[in-house]
Amino acid sequence: MSNIAYIPGDGIGEEVTRQGIKVLEYLDGVYNLGLKFEKFDLGAERYLRTGDILPDDVLNKLESFDSIYLGAVGDPRVEPGVLEKGILLKLRFYFDQYVNLRPIKLYKEEFSPLKGKGLEDIDFTVVRENTEGIYAGIGGFLKKDTPDEVATQEMISTRKGVDRVIKYAFEYAQKFGREPKLTVCDKSNVLTYAHNLWQRSFKEMGKKYPDVEQNHFLVDAMTMKMVRNPEVFDIVVTCNIFGDIITDLGAELQGGMGMAVSGNINPESISMFEPVHGSAPDIAGQNIANPLAAVLAAGMMLRELGYGNLTPKVEAVVKQALENKMVTADQGGDLSTDEVGDYLVKTLKSNEEGE
Ligand code: NAD
Ligand code: IPM
Ligand code: MN
Repeated sequence: MSNIAYIPGDGIGEEVTRQGIKVLEYLDGVYNLGLKFEKFDLGAERYLRTGDILPDDVLNKLESFDSIYLGAVGDPRVEPGVLEKGILLKLRFYFDQYVNLRPIKLYKEEFSPLKGKGLEDIDFTVVRENTEGIYAGIGGFLKKDTPDEVATQEMISTRKGVDRVIKYAFEYAQKFGREPKLTVCDKSNVLTYAHNLWQRSFKEMGKKYPDVEQNHFLVDAMTMKMVRNPEVFDIVVTCNIFGDIITDLGAELQGGMGMAVSGNINPESISMFEPVHGSAPDIAGQNIANPLAAVLAAGMMLRELGYGNLTPKVEAVVKQALENKMVTADQGGDLSTDEVGDYLVKTLKSNEEGE
């Protein structure tokens, strides 16, 4: 039995998560998982209609769920940050989802944008710190709207916050790494306070994990290496903002924004699963968005809910969709978002019958 809070959100959020829900409902029916979904209408429409962003009673209600499945938030009619900070970041912080797990995995050779790099080479996971750093929201304006205006935005790293995400990354590397190897990505040559703390934490924690190979890249060199030699990475741990940026680059390495998955994890409490991409207003409402990231996020959620045996089944049908070109235009197909979802369910069913 698992209760899932479902927040479709804005733009393509609803279109892509609808396909994830189809897949979850199919698996639920076959394996009697006892999944129960409750939909929450958080997002731009509700905000524009009522002024509500994420009311306390909704937040309290969410506490009773096992997991949250989210599309995306953000809308051109709303000032940037209102919904992103007020819903997405608020949920990450409130539920203390201090790990943002973002696998970067190429599913189909021909979508590699890198010459000579294939499935073996583009396969690593970014563990993004998810509750601190420059996302803490501390700062402000001085002399706003004058020629002497100064805006500040502070980066906060706490010893506990950094230690816990680095520990998680070491353990993740031990359990799921291919080699296992952990790379820390920071800017310790300039951020000589916040990222000096990251360096000390990484080195001290590293002594407890001698079986995990340990290395370090400054974030600028990291982007270079991700493009030139992505095969050197296994697990990467990094701060909030760098994790945000390098995982969009990672999304392109794996074939585009429509392929990248994100799990906001609190290992002891409620986690939240979503695609890495946003609400994509440029293609919203056209039934052309790629739903595969949202479907893979649903697969990742199943693992976290204790149905880890089903996650590879979801990954397998996604792979089949790509191989058979039963995909949206961004992946070289000509199906609509809904048709991809229907194909995935049909294929899950025929895989099941073939077993
Ligand atoms: P975006 O990820 O929404 O879109 C970037 C580009 O990728 C666009 O060209 C878009 O069409 C394309 N794209 C994204 N997802 C796709 C998919 N599934 N299939 C095909 N193409 C896809 O980023 P943006 O344009 O910078 O942001 C749009 C809005 O979304 C903003 O309001 C932003 O704040 C918000 N946002 C929300 C989240 C989230 O809720 N998790 C994440 C990122 C951005
Ligand atoms: C992401 C998004 C969010 C982030 C925004 C919308 C707040 O870009 O999930 O990658 O910066 O974390
Ligand atoms: Mn992002």
